[in-house]
Amino acid sequence: MLGISGSLRGGSYNTQLLRAAGELLGDGVELELYEGLKDVPPYDEDDDVEPAPAAVAALRAAVAGADAVLFATPEYNSSIPGQLKNALDWLSRPLATNPLRNKPVAVIGASTGVFGAVWSQAELRKVLSATGARVAEVELAVGQAATRFEGDRLVDETIREQLAEAVGLLLAEAQPAPSAQAAPRPRTTVAAA
Ligand SMILES: Cc1cc2nc3c(=O)[nH]c(=O)nc-3n(C[C@H](O)[C@H](O)[C@H](O)COP(=O)(O)O)c2cc1C
Repeated sequence: MLGISGSLRGGSYNTQLLRAAGELLGDGVELELYEGLKDVPPYDEDDDVEPAPAAVAALRAAVAGADAVLFATPEYNSSIPGQLKNALDWLSRPLATNPLRNKPVAVIGASTGVFGAVWSQAELRKVLSATGARVAEVELAVGQAATRFEGDRLVDETIREQLAEAVGLLLAEAQPAPSAQAAPRPRTTVAAA
């Protein structure tokens, strides 16, 4: 599972929330925190050609290689941070084959205010749906974030339980459907042209 925090700052509560989510994953599942968001250049359609800028290629490859992506976003002026939106614009292209298409994703968020970034989470879900991602029915709004962490540790047990549930829902979304697992192997193989 890939974790993408919408906040670039070192002490980000959203990044800490992702780290806490990583500790709740079961055996054999790891959360890799994406560290390269700040390097992504401003989206310019003239630059959106092959080869893509290195930071964009790295981001696209990380998303393409993940079985699921967990986003944690702060709220900036009732919306998502500009750099996160910029990254999603890069990820949304090429339209038909973009790395988010059909990707199981979920959105959680934290803010220092009481509402826990609910509006930015809704905005992010909207943008992710537009890219063709499979947006899991997950909601986790961590308000008054400064009271939920001590140092970089999540100390609110209720939030931890809700986080475990959110991560579980995303993992379930990333599992192949039982019918697909049980499906017989195709008898003929079609070679790629
Ligand atoms: C530019 C800017 C705009 C903000 N706008 C909002 C807002 O609309 N709603 C809100 O609840 N908090 C807002 N905040 C406060 C953030 O919730 C707070 O800075 C939070 O800690 C950011 O998340 P982070 O800890 O992951 O960096 C804003 C902060 C900044 C820097």
